[in-house]
Amino acid sequence: MRLLVTGGAGYVGSVCAARLCEAGHEVVVVDDLSSGHADAVPGGCRFVEAELSDVADSLLAEGFDGVLHFAAKSLVGESMQDPSKYWHGNVVTTLRLLEAMRKHEITRLVFSSTAAVYGQPDTIPIPEDTPAQPTNTYGATKLAMDHAIESYATAHGLAATSLRYFNVAGAYGAYGERHAVETHLIPIVLQVALGQREYVQIFGDDWPTQDGTCVRDYIHVADLADAHLRALELAQPGRHRIYNLGNGTGFSVKQVVDTCRQVTGHPIPARVSPRREGDPASLVASGERARQELNWQPHRAELDTIVRHAWEFAHAHHRD
Ligand code: UFG
Repeated sequence: MRLLVTGGAGYVGSVCAARLCEAGHEVVVVDDLSSGHADAVPGGCRFVEAELSDVADSLLAEGFDGVLHFAAKSLVGESMQDPSKYWHGNVVTTLRLLEAMRKHEITRLVFSSTAAVYGQPDTIPIPEDTPAQPTNTYGATKLAMDHAIESYATAHGLAATSLRYFNVAGAYGAYGERHAVETHLIPIVLQVALGQREYVQIFGDDWPTQDGTCVRDYIHVADLADAHLRALELAQPGRHRIYNLGNGTGFSVKQVVDTCRQVTGHPIPARVSPRREGDPASLVASGERARQELNWQPHRAELDTIVRHAWEFAHAHHRD
């Protein structure tokens, strides 16, 4: 297939672009490099450096079999302070993309959604029919885009899939997580191991969980990429399917820090600090639907494998 990957210079986008190239697809990456890196675009892809909303129409006029849409603003804290950046950057841009897809009759779409759409659900593990009640602007914009895609699928025959990621981590060879401002737990803990930070802050140890720290479902970025390839193949015209992507197992912040200590061999000092605003106590995916309908199975589900791959990548890139 000839595919457009938006945000293909970013973390998840670059890993997916690499996997798509390996699978024999022709891939064009569009990315404005606002948070991605030009050298993260896989070698076999054509790279267009541009803002998606400016070029969606002209680019899609070239003719594509499908779009994988990763380009988005994705910092929860920032989304609360600067909502306009999120409603414009995420929702308005996606509407332009959907319009261009309709105009140029491109019918396949795989969209990066997020577990942040669920807010703080009562039921764990979380199935896809859990009411979506996001607690931050980032999650609200992703939910709005899911709704827009649903309407386009119903009205215009789009074959669409929204993949709701839980906590993506790990690396795939030369492709990994490199954010200018790092907020995610595993890369932060590894920065301590590399001597770039003195200690890791544990945001609260009085949560209603087994050891008092927050529990998350960490999924390897390459397993996540595999789900995109399956979604692309299995999508059906006029249908919008939603899948939660996680391993179905939760690990606490303390367990993550301990695993990082074991994998890196570094002591990694940690200090407990107050809870971070907006954090749910526990988020764990029910992966049943993805297993049944996409025939998808994670192959790198062990936390120490995920951390080891993230560590190898962090070690190789810490001077970038
Ligand atoms: N945490 C710390 N210290 C840190 C950083 C994080 O204790 O320095 C804790 C957080 O409080 C949270 C856990 O580690 O309990 C994971 O935090 P991350 O920031 O790595 O990830 P989040 O769970 O906040 O969010 C991520 C994505 C969201 C997605 C969510 C779904 O960024 O887009 O996973 O599970 F919705």
